[in-house]
Amino acid sequence: METLIHPIPSHSPDAIAEALEAPLALLRRGEVVALPTETVYGLAGVATDLGAVAKIFTAKERPTFDPLIVHVPGGEWLSRLVGELSEIQAQRVEELIRAFWPGPLTLLLPRNAELVPDLVTSGSDHVALRSPAHPVFRALIEALDQPLAAPSANRFGRISPTRAEHVREELGGHIPMIVDGGDCAVGVESTILKVSATGQGRILRHGPISQEVLADYLPLHHEPALSSSRPGSLEAPGTMESHYAPRTPLHLLEAVPDGQDNCALLTWGHDETSGWKRVLNLSPSADWAEAARHLFGMMRELDDAEVAAIYVRALPEEGLGRAIMDRLRRAAAKRHISLKHNY
Ligand code: TXA
Ligand code: MG
Repeated sequence: METLIHPIPSHSPDAIAEALEAPLALLRRGEVVALPTETVYGLAGVATDLGAVAKIFTAKERPTFDPLIVHVPGGEWLSRLVGELSEIQAQRVEELIRAFWPGPLTLLLPRNAELVPDLVTSGSDHVALRSPAHPVFRALIEALDQPLAAPSANRFGRISPTRAEHVREELGGHIPMIVDGGDCAVGVESTILKVSATGQGRILRHGPISQEVLADYLPLHHEPALSSSRPGSLEAPGTMESHYAPRTPLHLLEAVPDGQDNCALLTWGHDETSGWKRVLNLSPSADWAEAARHLFGMMRELDDAEVAAIYVRALPEEGLGRAIMDRLRRAAAKRHISLKHNY
């Protein structure tokens, strides 16, 4: 299959509307299309179309035990896709949506099984919902007026794509179209928050909306999200230990060691960094938003640099630093699951 890279010439509303006719036509006839969001690129298909959802799993070679986030135009879709909520749960959800939607917060809530297919949630009675802020994604989903299932547009277990070219490297030849909306502004995937019937929250994936910020909105359980290599035992199955994996071994370090001329260094700040084959800096000024924006692109670049190993300087684990460290730790983890192909 030929994969068309479809540019959006500018972010003016008229230019976006015109350029979206082709991807809209594909989605309406059950195809999948890669789309930019503010976090990472997603591979989207209409969530209520089982054929389209099946194509997502096939293109990514993703196991069907790993469910998909459902993307919606806005909070008005919640009452349709979500099952019955308790009073406190509904109130907390409303406050969170008012504060963070559209934006990088995914809410895990009881699902309405009449509208959300089993295949989307991998049979779970909960559905993950998010409303992205990217102007191209918003214009498209508002015009479509249907929920879109969309995982990150990478092959299963690999680094998430933050520009159209990364999607082509991952899925080129397997999907009909990549809508090119430029580089993603945030760079790490959305925070996933489960809101229980008692109104308590649990972060299942750390992301751009930090634990510190969410704690102002609801009480948070702090036991770590389940993380395991055993399929079927997970609350957020994609949060398996080995994920975001480059092909090159990756190691986390507290301080920058002496350079090694066959290895690469991914660092931040102003440390001395001589003697390495390649050095990339996530953010010289230690600005964590900048570091998040650069993270996956730089991991990809160093993975392609033909080095024996990639060393990464650890970041402080607070705010966005926690989300970045979560991705790096998974990238450094040994693989426990055997995948059909060697990615
Ligand atoms: O920022 C994002 O969230 C991006 C963009 C494209 O929206 N999407 C994304 O999707 O990161 P994905 O599929 O790569 O990661 C979603 C995670 C997976 O770990 C999946 O297991 C979990 O969310 N998830 C989705 N639906 C779930 C459900 N019903 N119950 C538990 N976990 C769920
Ligand atoms: Mg993903």
